[in-house]
Amino acid sequence: MTARPRVIITRKIPAACEEEARRRFDAVTNPDDVPLTADQLKEALRTADGLLPTVTDKLTAEVLSAGPRRTKLIANFGVGFNNIDITAAKAEGLTVTNTPDVLTDDTADIAITLLLMVARRAGEGERHVRAGQWTGWRPTHMLGARVSGKTLGLIGFGRIAKAVARRAHHGFGMRVMFSDPFPPKPEEAKALGAEQRDSVEEVLREADFVSLHCPATPETRHLMNASRLALMKRSAFLINTARGDVVDEAALAAALQAGTIAGAGLDVFEKEPVVTPALLARENVVLLPHLGSATLETRVAMGMRAIENLTLFFAGQPVRDRVV
Ligand code: 8YV
Repeated sequence: MTARPRVIITRKIPAACEEEARRRFDAVTNPDDVPLTADQLKEALRTADGLLPTVTDKLTAEVLSAGPRRTKLIANFGVGFNNIDITAAKAEGLTVTNTPDVLTDDTADIAITLLLMVARRAGEGERHVRAGQWTGWRPTHMLGARVSGKTLGLIGFGRIAKAVARRAHHGFGMRVMFSDPFPPKPEEAKALGAEQRDSVEEVLREADFVSLHCPATPETRHLMNASRLALMKRSAFLINTARGDVVDEAALAAALQAGTIAGAGLDVFEKEPVVTPALLARENVVLLPHLGSATLETRVAMGMRAIENLTLFFAGQPVRDRVV
């Protein structure tokens, strides 16, 4: 009998996925859920046929090139893969897969959650009640900004942005516009009530809510810098469920401090789990701990999708979600 492929799963994933992985592979799990160090990641690449990492595993060129490497497939648990140096992975002849589709709806729901929370001051209101500060209803108490009928600007128009557009347009009657270097077919955008704009800047100038949905690449690093933040309306809100790197967090804190934008809803940060202290101190910012895909249903589906990619690869078949 040929030995079963050895797969290292770097973090604790839902039990159903760990059980399935054990059925199919010689699976090594991480019951204590302590993130692996760079040295431990190198060792994992030396000893496993496949690696199932998460966003917290920084697979840099240095880590990937530390031989002699046994791993041939990195099946990332997540649709975003900026934790992996893709150029280095390619040069090393590694196959990398991700987990698209299965987390689209839940991540879109978190974008809408942030948008509603920041516009209607929900985080601030909840803190107010819990702190025992609520003295009673009054006509001018905690007035927020209306969401229904406003303009939503999407930076990037991939799967998650489209799911946000659907919710915003068909649920809240919002006008939706987007900018994307690879625009969809006009009829697809039309069905979502979304209008294309030729540049990010045009979207920023017009939108009441700007929601980021582009991948983190060297080109999109600090896409939302001080000068682009300055293009947003003073009454506009910024929502980020993509990656922290896309926003210059210090510039965002400065814009909020200066009141040149109205607020922000953030699920991702530049140096997770560290959040710029100036943001922590602000009431008009909603902060979530990278919860985009955090439902049991989606996390199980992500694990199963990664396992499916590993299974196909070890069977010598084309993987489903090849990144490189
Ligand atoms: C994950 C995500 O929680 O898929 C992504 O890109 O950001 C989240 O859904 C994270 O990547 C887990 O590795």
